[in-house]
Amino acid sequence: MAKSILVANWKNHPSSLEEAKSILVQLAKKSLLYKKLSLFIAPPLPYFESVRTRSKTFSGLAAQDIFVPQGSGSYTSQVTPDILKSLGVKLAIIGHSERRALGESSLDVSKKVRAAISAGITPLVCVGESSRDKDGLYYETLREQIKTSLQDLSDKKDISKVMIAYEPVWAIGKGAEAIDPADLSQSVIFIKKVLADIFGREFGDKVNILYGGSVDASNAPSLIEKTGIRGFLVGRASLKAKDFRPIAEALLGK
Ligand code: PGA
Repeated sequence: MAKSILVANWKNHPSSLEEAKSILVQLAKKSLLYKKLSLFIAPPLPYFESVRTRSKTFSGLAAQDIFVPQGSGSYTSQVTPDILKSLGVKLAIIGHSERRALGESSLDVSKKVRAAISAGITPLVCVGESSRDKDGLYYETLREQIKTSLQDLSDKKDISKVMIAYEPVWAIGKGAEAIDPADLSQSVIFIKKVLADIFGREFGDKVNILYGGSVDASNAPSLIEKTGIRGFLVGRASLKAKDFRPIAEALLGK
């Protein structure tokens, strides 16, 4: 059985390299645990080299976004997929709701997904409704996001190189609460159906779906049990080793 997947989205934290190093020292103490998972850490770019050298035995490096170069021109300030690749980046979070809030559209996401695949980097495509209505209209939002975000795949088979992070926006960040496990199961079934409709059952079924949004030690065990997800995308709780460890343990069924 393939390993469960755990992605730490550090966003713009911690606020100093020293703090980042100290998180890594703590994580390394449980490296044997983390090795049992497919663990990825997505730190702020300036911390990449430190994270890479300190976590390479138990984790892969992930980017929080990817830039799409138009040809071989020069792009001051941008980090191209090739550079990410050369740094050892294996996975890129694409279309996170905090980027969509800055104006990134599903169409932009679709181009980034393609750029990641061309560079040999796994795209982790974030989708999720910003609010829920009792009539279930948010499912349409979700369908549209998935369809458009994946529309640029040149080959249907490429869908098997993509991972989806289902992150309802209302469940993300401070003061929010994670989704109810029963509702998560429903959303996962829906996402699988949309993927199967677009790519055919044989490809749609292969996509790994993660959940993100206020995952912590207390809710991780129930969110993983029978909900159909393959792992978690974790923000806040990934910045403290003592909060992160029980999430890893939940994925391992401990
Ligand atoms: P959170 O963030 O775990 O802090 O809710 C998740 C995310 O934004 O990916």
